[in-house]
Amino acid sequence: MSKEKIAIAYSGGLDTSVMIKWLKDKYDAEIVAVTGNLGQQKEIENLEEKALATGASSFSFLDLRHEFVDSYIWPALKAGALYEDIYPLATALGRPLLAKALVDVGLEENCTMLAHGCTGKGNDQVRFEVAFASLAPHLAVLAPLREWEFTSREAEIAYALEHDIPVSATKKSPYSIDENIWGISIECGVLEDPMNPAPEDAFQITTSPEKAPEKAAVVDIEFEQGIPVALDGKKLDGLDLITELNTIGAAHGVGRLDLVENRVVGIKSREIYEAPAATILHFAHRELERLTLEKSVFQYKKNISQDYANLIYNGTWFSPMREALDGFVEATQKTVTGLVRVKLYKGSVSLLGRTSPWSLYNEELATYTEADTFNHKAAEGFIQLYGLGLKTWSEVKANNRS
Ligand code: ARG
Repeated sequence: MSKEKIAIAYSGGLDTSVMIKWLKDKYDAEIVAVTGNLGQQKEIENLEEKALATGASSFSFLDLRHEFVDSYIWPALKAGALYEDIYPLATALGRPLLAKALVDVGLEENCTMLAHGCTGKGNDQVRFEVAFASLAPHLAVLAPLREWEFTSREAEIAYALEHDIPVSATKKSPYSIDENIWGISIECGVLEDPMNPAPEDAFQITTSPEKAPEKAAVVDIEFEQGIPVALDGKKLDGLDLITELNTIGAAHGVGRLDLVENRVVGIKSREIYEAPAATILHFAHRELERLTLEKSVFQYKKNISQDYANLIYNGTWFSPMREALDGFVEATQKTVTGLVRVKLYKGSVSLLGRTSPWSLYNEELATYTEADTFNHKAAEGFIQLYGLGLKTWSEVKANNRS
């Protein structure tokens, strides 16, 4: 009799721990637990031990950090992808990569099913399952949280105790937190009332702007074709660059975001984000584009940024649409090379300067001094033709009135 074999996206938290045992019993299945490292700091100790003690027959811990930076974060940064103009999409960008890693292990291990621990009212179930459908449509998908009998955390803990499932003894935070190097997402508890200001204990890494240093930090960020490559003149690997900017930004209270957002499943939810590096890099990248992109490209790209952000948020990363948008974005980034100097001060990021070998800013054209080379006479004829249509319209309107 062939036993089912299920690959589970495992985090080490209560839900996915209970899931291992629950699925193993329900399907009489062998369990393959898979955890991806996307740069989260918490809950990554003793995972293998925990997974095996809980009933998994194997455990894989995959370091996905570099792939996350190079193939997910940088494309999103180059695209200018901020969901509803604010959220840099840390959680949303991590899901397709975790889904891909789970599929890879699942296929290698001849699994027949894939399982995730997302709830039935969130975006993440959509992202996982749509990614599974694109990558391995023949595998069955299980979402135990949508169907199991537990209706509270306490019920899950009781089940865990009864079945000797190791659950961490640390006090559960009143918030639901998802973390990776591109940012931290925080919801639930008092945050559910959008009128409640986020309490200090909701924030995991950032200093409050009030307590941030009196002295600002000045950071020079260098970009090559849209990708940040150096800080203060020091070349850095993408992962190190993001890590360093997260540290400096967090110390200055930068990157706290508070958003009531439109979920894929039709509800509005209120979430708090901490994303220091993402906030600084999106800001600097856009400022460099203001300098280097031709006017119509710069203005048109806004639409692409929004479409790209929606695509990431809505879970259609593995799609021909993303490839098509990437084509546009790549073409725009060829000249997004240069340096942006920013100031971080008590929660804010501001611009001190920008320079680029591809700068389209021409001081001789812009200046109001003697050095001016702009052809003022040409403006006259230009305006006559440019305004001709409206002049005609106005005359016709006046004639018909009389
Ligand atoms: N609202 C964000 C998104 O859909 C984050 C979801 C996960 N949030 C959390 N606190 N666990 O991408």
